[in-house]
Amino acid sequence: MASTDNAVVANGIRKTFGPVVALADISFKIRRGEVLGLLGPNGAGKTTMVDILSTLTRPDRGRAEVAGHDVLSDPAGVRRSIMLTGQHVALDDMLSGRENLVMFGRLQGLRKSQARRRADELLHQFDLVDAANRRVSTYSGGMRRRIDIACGLVVRPEVVFLDEPTTGLDPRSRRSIWELVSECKEAGIATLLTTQYLEEADALSDRIVVIDHGAIIAEGTADELKERTGATYCEIVPRHPQDLLAVAEALGSLLPERNRAALTTASDRISMPAAGGPNTLAQALNRLSEANIELLDIALRRPSLDEVFLTLTTENTGDRPRFTSGRHPSENSGNTGTEHIDVDILR
Ligand SMILES: Nc1ncnc2c1ncn2[C@@H]1O[C@H](COP(=O)(O)OP(=O)(O)O)[C@@H](O)[C@H]1O
Ligand SMILES: [Mg+2]
Repeated sequence: MASTDNAVVANGIRKTFGPVVALADISFKIRRGEVLGLLGPNGAGKTTMVDILSTLTRPDRGRAEVAGHDVLSDPAGVRRSIMLTGQHVALDDMLSGRENLVMFGRLQGLRKSQARRRADELLHQFDLVDAANRRVSTYSGGMRRRIDIACGLVVRPEVVFLDEPTTGLDPRSRRSIWELVSECKEAGIATLLTTQYLEEADALSDRIVVIDHGAIIAEGTADELKERTGATYCEIVPRHPQDLLAVAEALGSLLPERNRAALTTASDRISMPAAGGPNTLAQALNRLSEANIELLDIALRRPSLDEVFLTLTTENTGDRPRFTSGRHPSENSGNTGTEHIDVDILR
């Protein structure tokens, strides 16, 4: 294909593993300088897609081009043009961070002096100067992720794949990865970022493609996705968090099943679609005052991204939602595992 503005073109990609359809029929494009967020829960098919585009896996059907190279007929061309990171760490633990960077540069054909200069730039950019001469085996998880990404940037790629780059990272490392995404964009690099975090996709991506069970279930900007689920939400905060079950009980039919099912033991509020706007709010207020429940706050507002994806993923499967929270784990400081209340209690 002739050169276009598209750095990545995926067309009708299908991939199965035995009975598992990892990708059903996926098509999308990424322009140069664009960040595409591929958002989906665990097992949605994100890594399989990245593996196909980076030539680690062959699709069963469909075509894909990366930086103008066909993944099947010109895998070497693809590999020269990309940077892949995330779940395939290729670092040498026995070498220092700087040595790893120099080695990657040399492997990619830089002269010794060039490779050293580039290593120093990247150590600065990734805030690793202090640790530069320590063996990578002594690095924290966040530092490893940063040096891993830095190694992929030694020679500037045309397309960057970041497969869940911030999963499990501390806030500092996460920030430097977010900054990296902005820098890639400024440099005209096309970026495919996979994530399970709605907030991250919203903050970093120009466009979001939502996949679930190997199929695209929605795409657009974060705002367009919000439009799609439409309408207003009503948020109710009881004065005493332990009244939450009583609130759910009192709301009765006003509270849809999927919003009921999304409540967790950590919830301090209930949020539900308010199709009737102020009327719905008034009805809710009536029912709650009849039940003698004291409120801290009740308000109408636009849906959050969490609610958007709750709607999208339950529309798609009819199941209980598998996105349990849009918030990044590093922000729930000290609060491990938000447990779902047994739904039966709330019925
Ligand atoms: N090598 C493999 N063999 C068998 N099943 C696989 C393999 N790789 C992925 N799968 C399955 O394909 C589906 C998509 O997986 P994956 O692409 O890793 O999802 P994600 O990255 O979104 O979590 C899952 O059901 C997973 O179990
Ligand atoms: Mg994955």
